[in-house]
Amino acid sequence: KEETEKIKKLTDDLIKKIKVKDAKVVVGGSLKKDTWLRGIHDVDIFVAFNYKKYKDKSDRLSDILEKRLKKFRAVRLHGSRDYFRIKKGRFAFEIVPILDIKNATLARNITDITPLHSIWVKRHGLEDEIRLTKAFAVAQHVYGAETHIRGFSGYVLEILTIYYGSFMGFIKGVSRWKKLVIIDPEHKLKDPAKELNKSKINSPLILVDPVDATRNVAAVVSEEKYERLIEAAKAFLKNPLEKFFTLKDEKIFKRAIA
Ligand code: UTP
Ligand code: MN
Repeated sequence: KEETEKIKKLTDDLIKKIKVKDAKVVVGGSLKKDTWLRGIHDVDIFVAFNYKKYKDKSDRLSDILEKRLKKFRAVRLHGSRDYFRIKKGRFAFEIVPILDIKNATLARNITDITPLHSIWVKRHGLEDEIRLTKAFAVAQHVYGAETHIRGFSGYVLEILTIYYGSFMGFIKGVSRWKKLVIIDPEHKLKDPAKELNKSKINSPLILVDPVDATRNVAAVVSEEKYERLIEAAKAFLKNPLEKFFTLKDEKIFKRAIA
């Protein structure tokens, strides 16, 4: 609780200082969703540009934002749309320019959809169950979608916890996974394996994004992390001990500022 309050205050203070014409500056990611875990020190902040004004200039959002962030000594990082990082002590704030959209079909870039993910997750009100799932995944070394990890992203774990109804539902569901699992939580597609782009379905888990049916959100998950999660779920079912949620070395949490 103390850590959440501290990070929320720091975030609010920073948000108030960022001023961008025709854009709203808002908190995003797990802090917004209330699925944030103690020890994760990266905060997502979105600068959502007015859709009508910027829809045809969306390739310039990063350059526009860069000018506004100069005084914070923000570092520009490359992504599907370039974004910025501001470090404050232990915390790293990631400032992402997006188009303010109400519907996934209006997105010009994958990052534009991110706030819609938050809305979908929050609607289900399973924050504490999701936190258990995330803590379990972190401690079992399968957390993170970064290319050097190729595990389960926070968003993938959120969807799975909601799909299975609870943390225990998630554990039982995962323990029954075979070589390939296809999950379409909002029943958007008749046959995801056929309808999704071939390059997106090489992963052992095919998880259709509930707010964007063109996307397999688990596309980066490796066979190794997939098998490891199944084994961990089976082991936990046999012997549900607290140690499944704890890390020997908490440094792993500090990936954002490593
Ligand atoms: P994060 O990786 O920061 O996720 O991406 P998170 O939910 O905030 O989890 P933690 O607590 O920091 O680890 C922020 C948002 O970007 C989108 C998701 O909507 C996610 O909530 N995202 C990120 C993707 O859609 N795909 C990705 O591979 C990564
Ligand atoms: Mn985050």
